Amino acid sequence: MKQIRMRVEKRRDVTPGISEFTLVPTDDVDLPGFDPGAHITVETPSGAMRRYSLVNDGTDPAAYVVAIKREPESRGGSASMHAEALEGYELNVEPPENDFPLTDVQKYLLIAGGIGITPIYAMARDLDKRGKALRIIYVSRSAEEAAYLAELNEDFAGRIIVHHDGGDPANVYDFWDDLATPRATHVFCCGPKPLMEEIKAVSGHWPEGRIHFEDFKPVEVVREDDTAFEVELKKSGETVTVPEDRSILEALRDSGHATSSSCESGTCGTCKTRLLAGEADHRDMVLMDEEKEDFIMICVSRAKSGRLVLDL
Ligand code: FES
Repeated sequence: MKQIRMRVEKRRDVTPGISEFTLVPTDDVDLPGFDPGAHITVETPSGAMRRYSLVNDGTDPAAYVVAIKREPESRGGSASMHAEALEGYELNVEPPENDFPLTDVQKYLLIAGGIGITPIYAMARDLDKRGKALRIIYVSRSAEEAAYLAELNEDFAGRIIVHHDGGDPANVYDFWDDLATPRATHVFCCGPKPLMEEIKAVSGHWPEGRIHFEDFKPVEVVREDDTAFEVELKKSGETVTVPEDRSILEALRDSGHATSSSCESGTCGTCKTRLLAGEADHRDMVLMDEEKEDFIMICVSRAKSGRLVLDL
């Protein structure tokens, strides 16, 4: 795909940890347009390719606007965008693609978790302009961490539910009432993996094709030649088998263990776990070399051979 050379024309903080980048072409070219839900792939200053949803209107765009969260424990792409992509910085961008297109129905329920608001915000504005009925549920840890909150509250007053859980698993939003009765509504959901898993779980009885997810996977979590292995959980003394097509994190969750995760793609740092024994096949973009003996990111990394012993 032909890349476009772009320059950061404007940067502004939309929350203390989320910056909005306005990218314009360095040459006099017409930018390809896009529909809500589309993303661009950016070659970040670290060299890592990262997909970011487009926030602005894609009809005849003069710029591509993305909002990027700084993942505090990540040394990867998003962290380098925050640290290095200052106004005037140039980078390569792959043209928009859309794996999360809107369907054409009458009613929509848009669900966003955290930085997942970016495509949802673009969708909401587009649907509103076209006179479609919509409701938004926006969940985040706190108001401080919720991008575009003031704009959304103003533009969609009476049509938006905002819920802050303070990072407390006991205080997460309960989607059951919203999804208990399948309706002609189409649901679009973008957010961290646990949120999407929750929506999948409570909407299992909905007819096929009505629930849509944006699912970014910057690294391959499971590869074709992966094999099963065992992890021993030192604290509980249990042993869990990780099948060839599941991550350690998924295997733990499948066997009823509480896990902490967010990106589930080896970039955010949330699932960092102490490795007590065994040889890990590290596939994340978080750990520094000197940490690799003692830690493992269980959402993507596996065992090189034999079994791993984790401090869980
Ligand atoms: S690195 Fe984000 S959940 Fe594992």
